[in-house]
Amino acid sequence: MRIAMIGTGYVGLVTGTCFAETGNDVICVDCDAEKIRLLQAGGCPIYEPGLEELLQRNIAAGRLRFTTDLPSAVRWAKLIFIAVGTPSRDDGSVDLSALWAVVEEMAPHLAEDAIVVIKSTAPVGTNAAVTARLRELTGRSVDVATNPEFLKEGAAVEDFMKPDRVVVGARREEVLEILWDLYQPYLRTDKPLLFMSPESAEMTKYAANAMLATKISFINEIAAICERTGADINDVRRGIGHDSRIGFAFLFPGVGYGGSCFPKDVRALAAVARAHDVTPRILEATHQVNEHQKGILLRKIREHFGGALSDKTIAIWGLSFKPGTDDIREAPSLVLIDGLLQHGAALRVYDPEAMDNVRKRYGNRLTYCQHRDEALDDADALVIVTEWKQFVHPDFDEMKRRLKRPVIFDGRNIYNPHRMKDLGFTYYSIGRPP
Ligand code: UGA
Repeated sequence: MRIAMIGTGYVGLVTGTCFAETGNDVICVDCDAEKIRLLQAGGCPIYEPGLEELLQRNIAAGRLRFTTDLPSAVRWAKLIFIAVGTPSRDDGSVDLSALWAVVEEMAPHLAEDAIVVIKSTAPVGTNAAVTARLRELTGRSVDVATNPEFLKEGAAVEDFMKPDRVVVGARREEVLEILWDLYQPYLRTDKPLLFMSPESAEMTKYAANAMLATKISFINEIAAICERTGADINDVRRGIGHDSRIGFAFLFPGVGYGGSCFPKDVRALAAVARAHDVTPRILEATHQVNEHQKGILLRKIREHFGGALSDKTIAIWGLSFKPGTDDIREAPSLVLIDGLLQHGAALRVYDPEAMDNVRKRYGNRLTYCQHRDEALDDADALVIVTEWKQFVHPDFDEMKRRLKRPVIFDGRNIYNPHRMKDLGFTYYSIGRPP
């Protein structure tokens, strides 16, 4: 299959590369010439496990190419995927300007039998609007499918290669058949390709992310109640998770969800609801609980030190919004850093992958440490924000030697409170008795 992937951000790059891996001819398009040059040379602009190797293998095999020339790529392709960014506006609604720019630019170059596939996350009605606009621009009916992505950063290649399901929203069976052929190599026997209307496919993407975000806000609220009542969220989580109707996934309390998807998508779905006269009570609560949760570590730190932090040095482990990525978009660590700086604390920070991104944002206002343990030197406390594997089994004696005081604020519940007490630490976590 000849595929043009327009937009080589995280979704487009992973999707295009994985399509090449199963033998398709793929050309990835981006207007960022520097990024295209890097990709042409086999470099990978993002940190995503397994991606660079896959990229280089498929470039070498001649199945994966990169260009800034959108018209030529569109003329050549049978399937044209749109995977450009759809960021939030200030009111939470979605900015579709990049998507519309692509639609306008591609229209004169579409082959007669070309199929346009919207991969970008876009609100219900976008497919219908793109279909109508392409009819105006081309004077004929162009097939437009919606095929949302469900990839997790840090596990995107694995998720793409072994999806739980593939969702295709299209108006014609023939379009479904082509996409079925494309996705068939990735679908294990018990994992379906679900065919539905474009509107349902668009809604499915938002509903999935909103449901997951709601689970997180729910468990964070329960954790807050546990903290005040002496219950232990870890036991409660296990107690409810064994009910097969509830399950264990996405019920880990923490410092709130971040990243480029949940915060944006929850707000966007709420904006769609309001635009259609539906009051999005649950979505709004999910968002509000999350905003509050992002401040939880700062509140605990201030409470411990009696409010004043201007003479304190705080070590922070973990800056990316979750392990396995260098992405700091909407990361809870940023809310913590901003708050601590505002209260005058000096910060020593460490993250295995996200240091460059954090440095770009904070410059010399933070001390950037080369190693996990270096961040602890002479700090009044350690704060764990992201549960990278290398934080799970540290040398606790070494930690005590380096820290000025043995105080830990753990935003991800990675240590056992009883053990920490025995080791002589003052240990705070989320939703568990000290
Ligand atoms: C999320 C979805 O999981 C993907 O299915 C979806 O395709 C993607 O958004 C998207 O829309 O593109 P991602 O943003 O990569 O993927 O991150 P997740 O692994 O889902 O984690 C999101 C946030 O929730 C992180 O900040 C994480 O720390 C937090 N989280 C997750 C919790 O606090 N508790 C949990 O139990 C699980």
